[in-house]
Amino acid sequence: MEREWIIEDNSLDAETLLKNESIFSTANGYIGIRGNFEEKYASNLKSIRGTYINAFYEKVPITYNEKEFAFPESMQKIVNVIDSQDVDIIVDGERFSLFEGTVKSFKRYLDMRNGYYRRDIWWVSPNGKELKIKITRLASLKYLELFSINYEIEIIKPVNEIIIKSGINADVSNYLNPDDPRVSAGYSNILDLKSIAIEEGIIQASAETKSSRETVAVTTSHYLNLAHEEYYEKGKKWAKAIFKIKPGISKINFTKYNIYTDSRRFEKPEASGFKILKDVNRKTFKDLLMEQRICLDDYWSNSDINIQGDENLQLVIRYNLYELIQSVGKDSISNIPAKGLSGEGYEGHYFWDTEVYLIPFFTFCNPKLAKQLLKYRYIILDSARKRARELGHKKGAAYPWRTITGEECSSYFPASTAQYHINADIAYSYVQYFLITGDIDFIKDFGAEVIFETARIWLEIGHFDDGLFKIDDVTGPDEYTAIVNNNYYTNVMAKYNLKWAYKIYHMLKERYSQSLSKLCEKIKLEECEIKQFLKASENMYLPYDKKLKIIAQDDSFLSKAVWDFKNTPEENYPLLMNYHPLTIYRYQVLKQADTVLANFLVEDEADFETIKNSYDYYEKITTHDSSLSCAIYSIMASKIGYMDKAYKYFIETAKLDLDDTHGNTKDGLHIANMGGTWMAIVYGFAGLRVKEDYIILNPKLPLKWSNLKFKLLYRKAEISVSIYKEKTKITVNAVIPVKIKINNKLHSIPPGSGISYEIPNIYK
Ligand code: BGC
Repeated sequence: MEREWIIEDNSLDAETLLKNESIFSTANGYIGIRGNFEEKYASNLKSIRGTYINAFYEKVPITYNEKEFAFPESMQKIVNVIDSQDVDIIVDGERFSLFEGTVKSFKRYLDMRNGYYRRDIWWVSPNGKELKIKITRLASLKYLELFSINYEIEIIKPVNEIIIKSGINADVSNYLNPDDPRVSAGYSNILDLKSIAIEEGIIQASAETKSSRETVAVTTSHYLNLAHEEYYEKGKKWAKAIFKIKPGISKINFTKYNIYTDSRRFEKPEASGFKILKDVNRKTFKDLLMEQRICLDDYWSNSDINIQGDENLQLVIRYNLYELIQSVGKDSISNIPAKGLSGEGYEGHYFWDTEVYLIPFFTFCNPKLAKQLLKYRYIILDSARKRARELGHKKGAAYPWRTITGEECSSYFPASTAQYHINADIAYSYVQYFLITGDIDFIKDFGAEVIFETARIWLEIGHFDDGLFKIDDVTGPDEYTAIVNNNYYTNVMAKYNLKWAYKIYHMLKERYSQSLSKLCEKIKLEECEIKQFLKASENMYLPYDKKLKIIAQDDSFLSKAVWDFKNTPEENYPLLMNYHPLTIYRYQVLKQADTVLANFLVEDEADFETIKNSYDYYEKITTHDSSLSCAIYSIMASKIGYMDKAYKYFIETAKLDLDDTHGNTKDGLHIANMGGTWMAIVYGFAGLRVKEDYIILNPKLPLKWSNLKFKLLYRKAEISVSIYKEKTKITVNAVIPVKIKINNKLHSIPPGSGISYEIPNIYK
């Protein structure tokens, strides 16, 4: 049982150390600290030492030699903030390091039930001093500003003196890799020191970003369980507490409390840091662990997935789910960075990843957090409107492809601004949230405005041609094909956006006409536009190839030459790292699911045969160079009944970071893919779908599994699902009547608790 909650990796080789800095990062959605060693590595080993605050950013200029109209002038990047990890143990003059002396045993693991990360070490110094050291870290889920480290030291052979040096360090910089477009190529020295303070046993450093002028402070105190001498030192950019412990001691317990505060959340980060610290450092580390457990019990009670038949996979699934709670921003100025808070890849930006790959999980398992994520898009709506004007659109909002505070942060428009589909993805997630929670108030107060403003863009960029509504010059999700006419994904998602703008308008007109009038007045929305929404939606052109009987990815895709896969050596993948984009654009080759994704999100737009044929066709030419691909192929393979493939793609998804199959886990975890793990199980193997008035379950268990259990919250009902090979059992606690279709039979479930159904499976 325990083992199913513990992720362990004890290797100390160079490559694994870097990867494990991401794997063992400690985060809570506000702060994230990579799994670096407090005492650092041997000097020949590389480390990306990093601490990040969600949505805390620097503004850096984008330089172009040929800057065209409305290209973004600057971008934002996440900041490697002040480091509070430093702790050194010095025994009789010898500094503890895993790379000196003898390591009698070393274990590092993440406990996902209790929410901490630990290193367990038995060490003998070069001169024969012997210590057992247990180092435990947590980023508190209760006190989001707190990152705490606890040392339990056991002195095996008597020593004369132990010194603990614990510091904070503002001499930090961001990580650069000029050869990888997915990592930053410039601006690494971001922070200017503001102050270093030592006050009544508390050390504090604060610094300011050079351009965005945002402040971050770290305020630190310590607890030591025994008599000691204690003094403090400070340098230009650092401060340190030094503890001298006398001989004759056999056990030491030492806790470091670090409070991170920043000017995006606190008016006076330095003063708030002191205040929060004084509240929190009264707690023992044991208290903090207990509170962490309570938060996680709450999280797991709705979010856990239980499988029987593969113990190792159970653990892997939990790891994916654990990273979701570690990564999700918990206030509405932050969201979910593509790499969570585990690394600097994609510079801490938020993408469509959130709406398509992550909000589904949160909506079904943690709707409060889903609401925050959606609200974030509402908060940046003004920036999206501004961007639309810059792009020449008279009305509507154009959401940025990647951003932190709402401004477009990409300089490469073919694979960013041209991905207008992000507008439809955002609208889609609001609608799905509404269908799943039934929360019409949220739609009235926030969703409607976003859905109307995003819908308007399609009228701006599309046009009627021979009665059909067409959308030219866009890029779909597949970034290996750019600036095309009538990308099916974009058109069909725009259709959904337009249709729902029309529907919501009428829903609100009926129930909340006053609020609607106010909103229409605010955004100058007229009834004739609503009619245009419907007309464009009903006449949306959806490309189809009659000969192949498949959906065409876009107007020109199927007439291109197919990529020469046979003669492409393994080491040339991902293609984006080895070929000029134009070379890639000229061929039929996909980076990630595109049409196949559309066939999942809006499956009723195509019949089963077309969906199957399209899957067969596009699968052969998809590289899955993007981590957002395999989960979708798994879901759709389940739908079609290709269960071997569904399982294969699922394994690829679930293990992507733990096995580092993309080779870049060191730059951060692939969070969308982790949401994809949940989706591949729940939408894939369990066959969940959301319809207007009911949900569907259509289970197909992988061969190896004898049972799959998970929970869903649907319209305030708690639904416990347990799927066996032969049958599906659900137990429902409902507040209002809800409808669930299982294996093609619709069940109307009355309010009440513990109502159970057992339905034989069609697919066994
Ligand atoms: C994918 C995008 C994704 C981004 C961030 C890219 O490689 O092609 O679809 O949004 O990564 O995860």
